[in-house]
Amino acid sequence: MKNELILILDFGGQYNQLIARRVRECNVYSEVVPFDISIEKIKGKNPKGIIFTGGPASVFADESPKCNQEIFNLGIPILGICYGMQLMTVTLGGKVRKASKREYGVTNVKINNNSLLFKGFSSNNNFLMSHTDSVEKLPEGFTNIASTLNCPNAGMENKEKKFYGIQFHPEVSNSENGINVIKNFLFKICKCSGDWQISSLVDEKIQFLKEKIGNKKALCALSGGVDSSVAAVLLSKAIGKKLTCIFVDHGLLRKNEGDEVEDVFKKQFDINLIRINCKDRFLKKLENVTDPEKKRKIIGEEFIRVFEEESKKIGTVDFLVQGTIYPDVIESGLGKSSVIKSHHNVGGLPDYVDFKEIVEPLRDLFKDEVRKVGVELGIPENLVYRQPFPGPGLAIRIIGNITEDKLNILKEADSIFREEIANARLDKSINQYFAVLTNLKSVGVMGDERTYDYTVALRAVETTDFMTGIWSKIPYEVLEKVSSRIVNEVEHVNRVVYDITSKPPATIEWE
Ligand code: XMP
Repeated sequence: MKNELILILDFGGQYNQLIARRVRECNVYSEVVPFDISIEKIKGKNPKGIIFTGGPASVFADESPKCNQEIFNLGIPILGICYGMQLMTVTLGGKVRKASKREYGVTNVKINNNSLLFKGFSSNNNFLMSHTDSVEKLPEGFTNIASTLNCPNAGMENKEKKFYGIQFHPEVSNSENGINVIKNFLFKICKCSGDWQISSLVDEKIQFLKEKIGNKKALCALSGGVDSSVAAVLLSKAIGKKLTCIFVDHGLLRKNEGDEVEDVFKKQFDINLIRINCKDRFLKKLENVTDPEKKRKIIGEEFIRVFEEESKKIGTVDFLVQGTIYPDVIESGLGKSSVIKSHHNVGGLPDYVDFKEIVEPLRDLFKDEVRKVGVELGIPENLVYRQPFPGPGLAIRIIGNITEDKLNILKEADSIFREEIANARLDKSINQYFAVLTNLKSVGVMGDERTYDYTVALRAVETTDFMTGIWSKIPYEVLEKVSSRIVNEVEHVNRVVYDITSKPPATIEWE
């Protein structure tokens, strides 16, 4: 069965991915495509509707992105958002007014709720406006359906042709009920049925991979992270033992993590998994290295060397599996060039791996969808919903030089912290939390004895994008319990401190 599809023409706006996600949240499959996609390709995809995104350009600029005009003759409903509305206007014979000042912010928009686009809305709504130019004269056949104080034509429709334009952004969360504008477009105007679901997608993907790969051999570098895990399990459901996974365990994972990964893949999914335990090799390379960037470089390079050595043993494979996900594809040029994800968990793609083709089974999925696929496939939730963990692992959470003893101290302290956060049911609200072994020793007293031992720092942040974040206000009782358990249960730690710095100015990791 072919899915209903909404095509999203990308004019370079910052919210483009968000529009695609919102559409999928309404159970309608969406794809982001370049604004200059050919008419033949559009016809081939047979979309139920098309959305023009916003974008930073002005329609007056020579180089401004323009779609093929034929798109308006296909008989397919179109919704133009912001720049998309302005482009629709000038292409269909209306006029756009050049402005020098930008209107930005949540703005009161008066709407005509007789329009199908605004069915169920009251006549005043708060939507996010973010534009400079605006529509001065509507194209023929269009009527006005929205206005603001500064922008008389904030919405327009050509009911007969099912063309709609809005100057505001319904996709962002600060636009009240914005999602209902999208729903009205999908269900009332494009007549979508909304039956797209992750579960049907999983079956389709397995079937597709079966046909594509058949009896050939595939190789996957497994890091234990969400993307590579889900990609590997999907592949194994499709081709079974024809898939080999290489799991390079550098020994810098959290307590028991390596065994857990091995357990899931070998026991639960019966995947052909080669685990390479090479802690000693990595620790040797890291001996006396204190510079964080040097640590990262060494680990990344060594990872590749190990992967190469092991893949050489396997010989030529037909496919190399990559856990590329949709944001990687969109950000790096919309599939115009075939993008090979530089596997940031392992530090780059091996120079030498003898394969014929790359297969990226998650290429069209957002992170939250990848997680849903993971759950659907039966991968344990603690793996699917695990917090981000840096590729260089605990090496960048041990300040200064790394030794096996320090590694063990940190693993224990970190494990206690994670356990107590879970016990306090804070594991869903705090986005990243971990222990750091500082390089600081200080004086303490235990029983009657003086101690001179390490200080462990606890770090916990709340963030959505990990680019900025605030330190988490963990209740004192929880911190107290963690601190007391760590100093009592972990040898060579006599002091615990809590990091109360947000990002910026600090980073999330200490190195
Ligand atoms: P910072 O410390 O830059 O971290 O605030 C932001 C996010 O990136 C993760 N991080 C890394 N991930 N390799 C990775 O795969 C790295 O070298 C690395 N350094 C930081 C960090 O855990 C946080 O989620």
